[in-house]
Parts: sequence; structure tokens; C-alpha cells
Amino acid sequence: MSVPLAQIVGSQGRAVGVDNSQVMLEACRKWSEGVDLPEEFFPGDIHHLDFADATFDGCRTERVLQHCVDPMQALTEMVRVVRPGGSVVVTDVDFDSILTHLSNLELAQKLNRWRGYGRKWMARALPAMFHQLGLTDIRIVPVATYYTEYQDQKGIPTAWPPYRGGSCRNQA
Ligand SMILES: C[S@@+](CC[C@H](N)C(=O)[O-])C[C@H]1O[C@@H](n2cnc3c(N)ncnc32)[C@H](O)[C@@H]1O
Repeated sequence: MSVPLAQIVGSQGRAVGVDNSQVMLEACRKWSEGVDLPEEFFPGDIHHLDFADATFDGCRTERVLQHCVDPMQALTEMVRVVRPGGSVVVTDVDFDSILTHLSNLELAQKLNRWRGYGRKWMARALPAMFHQLGLTDIRIVPVATYYTEYQDQKGIPTAWPPYRGGSCRNQA
């Protein structure tokens, strides 16, 4: 996402990507090769971001909190590095919003419980976490994803798991 974000902030701005995986950082650097935009990539752990308070106008994650040892600490760090009035955007998963049309509905429901990794119901915890941190102007955007046997059989790429995103303002 750093390239689209860099396009939004423009040449006078700054778009910073942080990941604790060197492999992911290398991939990001490769994708952004030849793109003349203000992008930077840093190794780091979201639980302890190496930036001063209120460094950024906004901060976003997508499917990261689901992997965190302590999602509340991670969100607290995101809020800390955003200036008062800035935006915090979190997109994450909720496997109960996967709609799978199998002839065996019971099997479909079991699959939702079984597949995946990390915190499969991360997204539904977000509104309470936003409130707990004193954030305001909270918006929740639920998105359901629909899979069918037909898609799987025809090799039609299915969408990513369902996202339930939330955004809010740092009024701290
Ligand atoms: C499912 S991927 C999503 C990647 C990207 N946000 C996207 O939408 O394509 C989750 C990413 O979170 C990173 N990650 C997991 N735990 C992390 C942590 N504690 N600190 C920083 N990054 C972390 C992983 O290395 C991985 O790149």
C-alpha cells in the first residue's frame, strides 16, 4: 500500500512502511523500484514503533493486528505516532463474514472455523478498542465475502477473506 499512499501524499509528503519481515520489506522495495515517490521502508515491530509521538497525519494497517501478540498495544502505538486530529485506519478479518455456498452448509460453517490463522475474529474487537483509546469519529465498514463451489472448481480466484475495517480520529 505504500505506493498508493505515496501518490496521495505527493512529493512534499512522506509515506513510511513498517514490517517485521525482511522478506516483506524486500518485496515492497522491489515493487516500488522506479517509482519516484517519497516512500521509506523500515524493519520494525508494531508493538514498539521507532517514531516520536505525533509524527504522522495518519496510520493504517491491513491484516496485521490479527497476527499481533498484543493487538491493543499495537493499536496504542499506531495512535501514539499519529498527530491529534489525524486518522487511524485498521482493516482486519472476521471469518464469520465469509459466506461459502457449499451444498453441505454444515461443512461450510466448519470450514470457516477451521481455516485461516491468527485471530480470526480480530475485526469485531476493533470498535471497543477504538473507544477504549478515546478515539472519536469512529466508522465501521463491514464487508462480506462470498465463495462458491463453482468458483473453486473453475479456478476462479476467490477474494481475500472478509474485511471489517474501522477508522477513527486520534483526539488524544
Ligand atoms: C497478512 S500480511 C498483510 C500485509 C499488507 N498489510 C497487505 O495488506 O498486503 C501481515 C503482515 O504483517 C506483518 N507483521 C506481523 N506481525 C508484525 C509485527 N508485530 N510488527 C510488524 N509487522 C508485523 C507480517 O510480516 C506481514 O507482512
